[in-house]
Amino acid sequence: MSTSSDLPAVTVLGLGPMGRALAGAFLASGLPTTVWNRTPGRDRELTGGGAHVAGSAEEAVSASELTVVCVVNHDASDAILRRAEVTRALKGRTVVNLTADTPERARDTGEWAAAHGVGYLDGAIMTPAPSIGTAEAVFLHSGPRDLYERHRPVLEALGGTHTHLGEEIGRAATYDIALLDIFWTAMAGYAHAVAIARAEGVTARELAPFAQGIGAILPPLFERFAQDADSGTYSGEINPVTSAASTMAHIVDVSESHGIDAGVMRAVEGLARRVIGLGHGTDGFMRVAEVLGRH
Ligand SMILES: NC(=O)c1ccc[n+]([C@@H]2O[C@H](COP(=O)([O-])OP(=O)(O)OC[C@H]3O[C@@H](n4cnc5c(N)ncnc54)[C@H](OP(=O)(O)O)[C@@H]3O)[C@@H](O)[C@H]2O)c1
Repeated sequence: MSTSSDLPAVTVLGLGPMGRALAGAFLASGLPTTVWNRTPGRDRELTGGGAHVAGSAEEAVSASELTVVCVVNHDASDAILRRAEVTRALKGRTVVNLTADTPERARDTGEWAAAHGVGYLDGAIMTPAPSIGTAEAVFLHSGPRDLYERHRPVLEALGGTHTHLGEEIGRAATYDIALLDIFWTAMAGYAHAVAIARAEGVTARELAPFAQGIGAILPPLFERFAQDADSGTYSGEINPVTSAASTMAHIVDVSESHGIDAGVMRAVEGLARRVIGLGHGTDGFMRVAEVLGRH
């Protein structure tokens, strides 16, 4: 459906913090935007901005050639999209599912879409809701390239950068999982560091500038160690894993001396010790990537 101004219409299903941000960005770009959410009443700001609130999911998807779904997980998006009347209304239209879940669930949804004549792109959003509509937003997409190119102008109304990672439908979810793996393990490290620092009388605020310094060391290491991982040569020239394991043991020691759970660091130390036990003590920590899947 298009308006007299010929801007393409778009539908957003799911009005959690992210769905609301997506719909708000479409509206701010002037796109005729229809919204629907399982629980009514989450659309107040959006209606003020000119959104059309559909009375049902099938009415919502019928309003636009492109529907963007953003709900908690694929159980939730299935519960919406796979209802017979919604599936019928979607036939010949396109769904971009920006709901986070696993690559397997993305493939399953892709198969469902193909079986019902629905164009399907899977995607992931790598930045928080307030970034949507700004240059900071990061979107990853996967699925048929021609479909992506067709809907790209609408997707780009969300601001930020959009990367099509390939036609394999699970690819965006794979990146999402890998990147969230970095994020959550890093956050666990930070939370643990704050607990230890506090126990020793240092506030989180005092630690913060130095924590930022540690964070800044990581990006160049990601680049350097990616070469190690892809080539299988895990140089321990900068820091052999034997030395790293020693500092990890100190962290466990201080942590437990204060009665603070050291489970995460114990797991990390265990991985390092396994690398050493397998005879790779002079290698760098990234050798862990090789031994993780071994039983
Ligand atoms: N928020 C962020 O900053 C952020 C950043 C990156 C990625 N994401 C991803 O974006 C997605 C949405 O996140 P969110 O922040 O908007 O909040 P959320 O809490 O993950 O999802 C809330 C949305 O899911 C809907 N929902 C849950 N169960 C449902 C079901 N069984 N049937 C239908 N709808 C259901 C909720 O509807 P009701 O209102 O009816 O409960 C609401 O619209 C998630 O996959 C999240 O991982 C979020």
